[in-house]
Amino acid sequence: MPKMPPVDAPRMLRQRGPVFYRQKHLLAIEGLEPPAISQLLDLSESYVLLNRSGKTQRDLLRGRTLINLFFEDSTRTRTSFELAGKRLGADVINMSVSTSSVNKGETLIDTAATLNAMHCDLLVVRHDQSGAPNLLSRIVDAAVINAGDGTHEHPTQALLDALTIKRRKGRIAGLIVAICGDVAHSRVARSNIHLLTTMGCQVRVIGPPTLIPAEVADLGVTVFHDMARGLAGADVVMMLRLQRERMSRGQIPSAREYFRFYGLDAEKLTQAKSDAIVMHPGPMNRGVEIDSEVADDPLRSVIKEQVEMGVAVRMAVLDMLSRGHRRNES
Ligand code: NCD
Repeated sequence: MPKMPPVDAPRMLRQRGPVFYRQKHLLAIEGLEPPAISQLLDLSESYVLLNRSGKTQRDLLRGRTLINLFFEDSTRTRTSFELAGKRLGADVINMSVSTSSVNKGETLIDTAATLNAMHCDLLVVRHDQSGAPNLLSRIVDAAVINAGDGTHEHPTQALLDALTIKRRKGRIAGLIVAICGDVAHSRVARSNIHLLTTMGCQVRVIGPPTLIPAEVADLGVTVFHDMARGLAGADVVMMLRLQRERMSRGQIPSAREYFRFYGLDAEKLTQAKSDAIVMHPGPMNRGVEIDSEVADDPLRSVIKEQVEMGVAVRMAVLDMLSRGHRRNES
């Protein structure tokens, strides 16, 4: 692993100077400029160091309320936002569909009005409809963070993936990144494509024609339907979950056949660079898109590190968005 220069976390966290991320919300990666992305990654890096040092920053969001509003299942994303909010001192409330009145027919707009009345400062939203967080951002007072909407975007996942890549490879620009599998249903793929192409990577997508939408080529990526050719010379191999819950029948022949052609195992991985890293956003379908031998290989797999980076990135995003509030108050 290349050596990273030492970073003084508390100094970076206090740092004043130009702020390149000036949006109230974080709804998508698409449209963000490189300086804004880099600044979020630098701030995240300092939170990694702070978390590892065991120190906290509990005064930063003291008195603020963060609501995790999840209309879809999640383990990693919800818990890491919860942990991130708590580490910064916010009051964190988790609302999931089964406990809210959405089941009783309340609309998204009524839910938003309820949240406004509760004076929520930061609203983290996951929804199965693309565009739901965007709609909410127009009717709530809170800063809205998209935690995954339909097949559209999952911006904090792309930021944590980029941070993992940067720490492992020492850079982002110039790398060859292969994103493999169910691209059609993946908001993770879309956010990563926007981020990685913006930051100067060569991005490839690999998968069966039924799972690669035609429009994806317009995003500046190269499409491969053959795993060996797509993986050749890659620095980073990012596997995606086969999202059966979003599929119509017949999009893949069978899990076993899918694994044979598109599942990452040690043999297929030999096509990539010898120091290529393997990523997966989780949850994994072992034996479908990835073999356990590769997923659990400490020399290649950075899947656990992605989870650690997730907490730091979410702390950085909460910090950055609440800087807007703090500016308005001072
Ligand atoms: C992803 C998601 O929900 O979009 N998971 C995650 O956030 N860790 C990917 C997936 O569900 O496959």
